[in-house]
Amino acid sequence: MLCEKYEPKALSQLIGNSEARKKVALFISDIANRKQRKPLLLFGPSGTGKTAAIHAAAASNGFEILELSGSDYRNVDRLKKTLVPATRSRGLFNKTVLILLDEIDELSGKFDSGAERVISEVIKTSMQPIVFTANDFWDRKIEFLRNSVEKVEFKKVNDYEIALLLKEIAKREGYPVKDEVIDTISKRSNGDVRGAMNDLEAMLGSGAELLDNLGIRDTKIEVFGVLDKIFKTSSFDIAKNAAIRSEIDLEMLINWVDENIPNRYRSKRDVEMAYSALAEASKLSNNATRTNYYGYLRYAQILASSGVSLAGRGDITMLTPYAFPSKIRFLSATKKARSSNSAIAEKLSTVLHSSSKQIINSYLPLIKSMLKNLESVYGEEKMIEMAYSSFRLDEDDVKYIVGMAGPV
Ligand SMILES: Nc1ncnc2c1ncn2[C@@H]1O[C@H](COP(=O)(O)OP(=O)(O)O)[C@@H](O)[C@H]1O
Ligand SMILES: [Mg+2]
Repeated sequence: MLCEKYEPKALSQLIGNSEARKKVALFISDIANRKQRKPLLLFGPSGTGKTAAIHAAAASNGFEILELSGSDYRNVDRLKKTLVPATRSRGLFNKTVLILLDEIDELSGKFDSGAERVISEVIKTSMQPIVFTANDFWDRKIEFLRNSVEKVEFKKVNDYEIALLLKEIAKREGYPVKDEVIDTISKRSNGDVRGAMNDLEAMLGSGAELLDNLGIRDTKIEVFGVLDKIFKTSSFDIAKNAAIRSEIDLEMLINWVDENIPNRYRSKRDVEMAYSALAEASKLSNNATRTNYYGYLRYAQILASSGVSLAGRGDITMLTPYAFPSKIRFLSATKKARSSNSAIAEKLSTVLHSSSKQIINSYLPLIKSMLKNLESVYGEEKMIEMAYSSFRLDEDDVKYIVGMAGPV
């Protein structure tokens, strides 16, 4: 994936968050000078470079990293066996091994009091530097850390900086992406650099599916993040929470998972189990709609996430990007209104899950440029057909959008 390919090699290669980066740099240089430091807790929204900052800083100083995350906090015995010996000494060669306890707020309240104890103990006795990352500093699960860490806040990165980075990447990848498209992706990323890079990747890889893809993401939906939690871990809670928190539409989630099971799972058994969970999810979801009993939806959501997650072994590192669902069923068209910015925005709002204002300001110019591209590649008739199947825009709407004033 692009975000792996362009993972920053040094702190200076990260964008945004310069204050936070300074603190990390100082921490690392203190450690290199053998100064005693409280552990750091890097916190803030995901995709802003917390993990990347630590990787880059450690690598440029030749520190090794022992990295634990999510599911590692669940098995207390194993946690203890990994963590305690690693922190007990600096080894024969006085080597620095930075202990990175990533996404520490993934500790699940109920079961992890053991993990909490191990971690508190390690903080007191460790001979090695420790860094935590979390999304939310105020999460009660990590209350026990508050007094023993120094906090470093990561904030959303501003769109302008994200746009510059995306432009550089598009150039290096050899794709002429219009600035306008990149600006829209950056604005919609809501400060999430990884999300923006994933969106760019989707654009680069999608060609004719471009229109479909546009409808898939708004700032709340993080399909890739949720898919990662489902396919890369095999933890009931992590997958379930990711699906529930994402506000991703269930039908959409099922389509994405459906499309990607064969890409992500290798063994016949895993694939079969995953599909059977997904089939059950789909059945429940249909039942919910048919009977108006929405209690089914939660079960369906759990089956589509945790059910699929548990079918795999949770140890895949695959570099191929996620495939886009080939069939995406959009909601049916709203009643016909005369074409105008706001009438079109209203139609699109059910498909794009965004406010009319956001659609008029950021989607319409992008859709216009895409329709024009499609027209030049496939001709007018096919373009109109695609606009209908993706967005339920009719011929009048399409002509209106294509004829809109403004740059393309
Ligand atoms: N500030 C940033 N500057 C450059 N790239 C970034 C930045 N933040 C995230 N990325 C890209 O996104 C990827 C994932 O970021 P990561 O550090 O894992 O985010 P977080 O830990 O905050 O959720 C990185 O490998 C990098 O490619
Ligand atoms: Mg991270």
